[in-house]
Amino acid sequence: MDAATLLTRLAEVIDAHDWDALASLLDPGFTCRLVHTGEVFDRDGWVRLNADYPGFQRMHVDDLVADGDRGVLRATVVGTADDGGDQLFAVASFATVRDGALVELVEVWTDVGQAPPSGTRPGRWPEGAVPDATERLRFRPLTMADVDDVTAMLVDFDPMRGDRPPSTRDDAVRWVEWQQRNYAEHGFGLWVVETHDGTFVGDCGLTVQDVEGTPLVEIGYHLLAGHRGHGYAREAARAVRDLAATHGVGHLVALVRPDNTASQGVARSLGMEVLRTAYVHGGDALVFGTDPALV
Ligand SMILES: CC(C)(COP(=O)(O)OP(=O)(O)OC[C@H]1O[C@@H](n2cnc3c(N)ncnc32)[C@H](O)[C@@H]1OP(=O)(O)O)[C@@H](O)C(=O)NCCC(=O)NCCS
Repeated sequence: MDAATLLTRLAEVIDAHDWDALASLLDPGFTCRLVHTGEVFDRDGWVRLNADYPGFQRMHVDDLVADGDRGVLRATVVGTADDGGDQLFAVASFATVRDGALVELVEVWTDVGQAPPSGTRPGRWPEGAVPDATERLRFRPLTMADVDDVTAMLVDFDPMRGDRPPSTRDDAVRWVEWQQRNYAEHGFGLWVVETHDGTFVGDCGLTVQDVEGTPLVEIGYHLLAGHRGHGYAREAARAVRDLAATHGVGHLVALVRPDNTASQGVARSLGMEVLRTAYVHGGDALVFGTDPALV
């Protein structure tokens, strides 16, 4: 028998719990090595392992690739968990055949249905992640305790926001609530930027903006007027940009009113250029970004 026939038969007899038939497929010098534990079993030991395995129910072949005396089988194995429910495993068995019998298996086993390790998936923001502290600044989520500082920050932002009534404490409450929704929905939002001694400087972070029907991640920054002109916005924005890149958000935009030269300076300091204009939040804006294809 070649590898394809032997592997197909192997899965059939294991699924049927036919341990005598299993032994008959194996060369006397057979070994099976389990990659995840490093154990090596001989023929009798491996048949016993299968026969005695607690809770083993079924083996189902998902894929089989073979060429002559070498082959690999990928299968789903159903067992019984401690609570009595089904427990799924996946196994890949790499086989070598000698004189019509299996002489070696190398098996890679894994549990099925695991959660991905945190921080390893682009687009999935690890819960609670904030940008790394910089030389002069650090970050933390906004809370209702910041409402007074946020009120002052919004009042200082008013001149850049066109013709609108002065910002109030209620506006600041809504601003903080908006960030709390952002943290819950996306994992990111605008974060407090403060000096290392805890002095509130402003906010900086990421929000999702609808740019004429396309959702884009915007880097935003708002400083109390008294803290402007010291390079704080650039320093904070770089840390935000680096955190975004680390977690798979590589393309950011900044939506800036044509007369907001200070904000344009920050965007340019991040290597962004004007890619187009767009009508957002009731007015024209320059769309800064790094990749024209994505805007
Ligand atoms: C935009 C803002 C955050 C800039 O903060 P800042 O800490 O003063 O900015 P920085 O000192 O880090 O300056 C970053 C760059 O912008 C340039 N810049 C900053 N203020 C500027 C101004 N008033 N005019 C022209 N350029 C300016 C700086 O020269 C610097 O450029 P460089 O890197 O080439 O030296 C601040 O002015 C602000 O809070 N404005 C109100 C809120 C706002 O408009 N946010 C943006 C909404 S789109």
